[in-house]
Amino acid sequence: MGVSSPLVEAFEVTGGNRLSGTVSVTGAKNSVLKLMAAALLAPGTTTITAVPEILDVSVMAELLRRLGCEVDHDLVTATLRIDVPEQLHHQADYDLVRRMRASICVLGPLVARCNRAEVAVPGGDAIGSRGLDLHISGLNRLGVEVHNEHGYLIATAHDRMQGASIWLDFPSIGATENLLTASVLAKGTTVIDNAPREPEIVDLCNMLVAMGAQIGGIGSATLEIHGVDRLQPTTHATVPDRIVAGTWAVAAAITQGDVMIANARAGDLEIALDKLVMAGAHIDVGSDGFRVMMEDRPKAVDVVTLPYPGFPTDLQPQFIALNSIASGAAMVTENLFEARFRFVQELRRLGADVRTDGHHALVRGCEGLSGAPVEATDVRAGAGLVLAGLVAEGVTTVFDVTHIDRGYANFVEDLTGLGGDIRRIDA
Ligand code: UD1
Repeated sequence: MGVSSPLVEAFEVTGGNRLSGTVSVTGAKNSVLKLMAAALLAPGTTTITAVPEILDVSVMAELLRRLGCEVDHDLVTATLRIDVPEQLHHQADYDLVRRMRASICVLGPLVARCNRAEVAVPGGDAIGSRGLDLHISGLNRLGVEVHNEHGYLIATAHDRMQGASIWLDFPSIGATENLLTASVLAKGTTVIDNAPREPEIVDLCNMLVAMGAQIGGIGSATLEIHGVDRLQPTTHATVPDRIVAGTWAVAAAITQGDVMIANARAGDLEIALDKLVMAGAHIDVGSDGFRVMMEDRPKAVDVVTLPYPGFPTDLQPQFIALNSIASGAAMVTENLFEARFRFVQELRRLGADVRTDGHHALVRGCEGLSGAPVEATDVRAGAGLVLAGLVAEGVTTVFDVTHIDRGYANFVEDLTGLGGDIRRIDA
C-alpha cells in the first residue's frame, strides 16, 4: 500500500442482513505504530509481526524511511522488517505528521538516540484539540529542552537524559509512550506515576523489555524505568486490536447476529463486553477469541468513556449506533475527546434520535433507521456509521472512508465474509 492520496472512495451499505460466521482480528493499530517508532531505539533489524495492512502503517513506514531506516512490509506474512542505521535523521516533516497524529511518537526515540528531535506540531484533528503539554513537561523533567519554532517542536538534550519522577495529570497514552521511549536510554531511574494501563502500553513495554530495557510495574499505574546504555533489536508480535474486535462484537449485536471473533482477547474488552451482555447478547469466551450472539432487539445501555480499564472512547461511536436502534434510552458520556460527538449529526441523517449536551449524549432508541448518504468524520465514527448502515432500511453511502482504512484492515472483505452487504465504490 502506498501513501499517495487515495481515490475518493465510499462504502455502499445495504441494511438488513444478519451477520454470522467467523472474523479474525489482526494486530492493533494503536500498538503497531508505537512499536515501529520504538524500533528506532536500537540500530540493526527489528522485526514486527501481526502487522495490520492499514494506511497508518504505510504513513509510519514512510516516516521511518525519511529518518534513514529501510522498511520492508511483507503483506503475505504481515511482517515488518525495520533496518535502523547508527546515524538517524531527526526531523519528522509536517506532510506526514498532519496525515497521522501518532507520528508524534517518534519524539521520544529520536531524543534518546540523537539528543535532538524536530517533529512537526500535529495540530487539531476531528475528535478534539489534543494537547502536548504532558509530553513536553515530562521531557523537561528528563532534562530535555523543548520549544516551538516555525511549526516544529524542537527537543534538545544537552547531555544524556537524566531519570526523574514524573506525575501525569492525566494518564495520557501518547505522552507515556514518548516518556517511556526516552527514559529507557536515560541515566538513572525514571518513575511515571498515574500512567495509563492500556494493553497497547503493556505491549510497548514488553517489546522494550525484549530489547533490553529495564521496566518495572508493567500494566500498573506506576512504571519504573531503569535506564540502560544501549538496546538491541528484537522480534515482536503486535497485540490483537481490541477496538477492531469490539467493533465486530457490536456489529454482531446490532444485526442480531452470531459472530465468532477470533484472535481476540476478551480480557482486554471486559467492560465493553459486559455492556453487550446488558444489552441482551450472549457471549462465549474461548481460548482464541469470543463469540457474540444476539437474538432480540438490543436494550439501550449507558456508557461512560474512561482510561483503561474503563470503557474505551474508541468504541463510543459504535455503542451510540447500537443504542440508536435499541429499546429504551441511554446516556453516553464522553470524557476524553470533546469533539467526538461530531459524528452524531451524520447518524441523525439516518433518523437516529440523539441529543448532545456538552460531553453527554442522550440516545433514544428508535424502531428502525433509514439509509442515507453520510460522512465518516474520523476512523471510529466511520465504523459507527457503517454499523448503523447495516441495520438501516435501504442504502447508506458512507463517504470519506480513508478514515476507516486508516484503522481497519480488510474492512469490506471482513464484513462481506460475515454476510454484510457492503461494497467499496468510487465516489
Ligand atoms: C490514543 C489513541 C486513540 C485513543 C486515545 C484515548 C493512538 C494512536 N491513539 O490517543 O485512538 O482514542 O489514546 O484512549 O494510540 N492530553 C492533554 N495533554 C497531553 C496529552 C493528552 O491534555 O499532553 C489529553 C488529550 O487532549 C485527551 C486525553 O488527554 O483529552 C487523552 O489523550 P491521550 O491518552 O494522549 O491519547 P492519544 O495518545 O492522543
